[in-house]
Amino acid sequence: MRLGVFGTGYAGLVTSVGLAQLGHTVTAIDKDPDIVARLSDGRPTIYEPGLGELLTANLGAGRLRFTTRAEEAMAASDIIFLCVGTPPRADGRAELSQVEEVSCTIAPMLDGYKLIVEKSTVPARTAFWIDWTIRRLALGEREFDVASNPEFLREGSAVRDFLQPDRIVIGADTERARSLLLDLYEPSFDCPFVVTSVTTAELIKHVANTFLATKISFINLVSDLCEGLGVDVATVAKGIGLDPRIGSHFLQAGLGFGGSCLPKDLSALIKQAEDHGVDVGMLREVERINKARMDRLLAKVERALWVLRNKVIGVLGVAFKRDTDDIRGAPSLGVVPRLHGAGAILRIYDPAGARSLKALYPPDDRLGYVDSAYEAARNAHALVILTDWDEFRSLDFDRVRSLMRTPIIVDGRNLFEPAQLQTEGFEYYSLGRGDATLRREPQRVRG
Ligand SMILES: NC(=O)c1ccc[n+]([C@@H]2O[C@H](COP(=O)([O-])OP(=O)(O)OC[C@H]3O[C@@H](n4cnc5c(N)ncnc54)[C@H](O)[C@@H]3O)[C@@H](O)[C@H]2O)c1
Repeated sequence: MRLGVFGTGYAGLVTSVGLAQLGHTVTAIDKDPDIVARLSDGRPTIYEPGLGELLTANLGAGRLRFTTRAEEAMAASDIIFLCVGTPPRADGRAELSQVEEVSCTIAPMLDGYKLIVEKSTVPARTAFWIDWTIRRLALGEREFDVASNPEFLREGSAVRDFLQPDRIVIGADTERARSLLLDLYEPSFDCPFVVTSVTTAELIKHVANTFLATKISFINLVSDLCEGLGVDVATVAKGIGLDPRIGSHFLQAGLGFGGSCLPKDLSALIKQAEDHGVDVGMLREVERINKARMDRLLAKVERALWVLRNKVIGVLGVAFKRDTDDIRGAPSLGVVPRLHGAGAILRIYDPAGARSLKALYPPDDRLGYVDSAYEAARNAHALVILTDWDEFRSLDFDRVRSLMRTPIIVDGRNLFEPAQLQTEGFEYYSLGRGDATLRREPQRVRG
C-alpha cells in the first residue's frame, strides 16, 4: 500500500521503517530539514536497537523515502499517518498544535479519497477536530475519513514492538476506513485485533498508559512500606505478579515512571476526566507518588553523604530508561539540577542520552560529562544510578571501589542485591529494600 507518515520522531520513524519493512511504500515527512537530510542518508536520528539496519535496508530497497514536502507525500499516499508530537501543556492538557498544523497542511491537498490515521497519542474526540479542520479548509475534494490506530511501542524495544505487536487497535467509524486498516495489517500480523469506534480507540491508548502509571505508583507506595518493614519489595512484586490477574510487568519499584508518554498521557486523561466531572483523586495520587520518588532518592543521597557541597557524585544514566537516548520526563532532569544546586560536583555518564542532557545543562566547573561508568566513579564520594542500563549491572566492582573515594552507591533502579553490594565492600542504598549500610568501623576516606 502507499503510505504517508507525518512526523519522524521516536514514534514516526519506527512506524515509517516498520511499515516499509512490512513491504509498503512509505513517504515520511518531517518539517525539520536536518532530520530529513540525516534520515535520507540512512543515519538514524534517535538511538533505538535494530532501527539503523532496517532504515538502511528499506531506503536501499526503495520502499522508504523522507521529505519535507507534504504535497509529495499526499500525492504518493492513500493512507496518511499522523505521528507528530502531542507534548504536555503547562496545565497538563495535551498540546495539539502539531496535530492541528498537519490537518491544516493536508486539507487543501486532498486529491481523491484519503484515510487520515491518528497514531499520535491524543485525547478522545481529537479525531472530531481533525475532521472539522480538514472539512473547513479543504478546497474542493472532501472525500476522507479520520481513523485512530494508536501506537503501543516502547522506546528501547520499539522496532520489535512494532513488528511483533501484542494487539492492534483500530478505531474507525466508516466501513471504508475499517477495511483499509484491516487490509493493511491483517496480512502481516496474527495478534488480536480490537476493532472499535474512533473515540474508543483514542481512549484505549490514554487509559493503557494511565493504568501502567498506576501500577508503577502502586508498587512504589508498597516499596516505601517494605522499607519500613525491612522487606524486599522485589519479592513482594514477584509474589503478587505471578497471579495472572495482576501480572508481573510494571511492578519494578524505583524512581517511578518518566519518558515522553506516561506522565503526559496521565495528566491529559486527568484533565479530560475532570472536564467530564469525574473524580480523579486516585489518578492525582498516582502523579503525586511518582513526583515524590525523586525526593526520596535525593534524601537517600543526603543521608549517605551528609553534606553535598563539594562532594563528587558520579551520575550513572540520564535516559528515562535503558536502550534509549530519550531524556524527556527522565528523573535526571530533576536530580542533576538539584544536586548541582546543592553544590555537588557531578560527573555524568550515559551510553546514549548524555548528548541531550548536555544541551540542557552544559558542562561547567562542577558539572562534567565522562565516557564511561568508571570515569564517573573516579574520585567520587558516591555513585547515583538513575537508569537501568544493562552495562551498569555488569560493572567490575573491584575496579569501581578502587576508583572511588568512598564506596557508596545510591541506586534509584534497584539493580543490585543489597547483600551482594555489601559483600563487595559498598555502602548501598536502594528503594524498597533495607539499605546495606552496616559498618563495623567508620569508612576510611581516600584523597
Ligand atoms: N515516543 C514513544 O515511545 C511513543 C510511543 C507511542 C506513541 N507515541 C506518541 O506518538 C506521538 C509522537 O511522539 P514522538 O515521541 O515520536 O514525538 P517527537 O517529538 O519525537 O516527534 C515528533 C516529530 O514531528 C515532527 N513534526 C512536528 N510538526 C510537524 C509537521 N507539521 N509536519 C511534519 N512533521 C512535523 C517534528 O519535527 C518531530 O520530528 C506522540 O503523540 C506520542 O505520545 C510515542
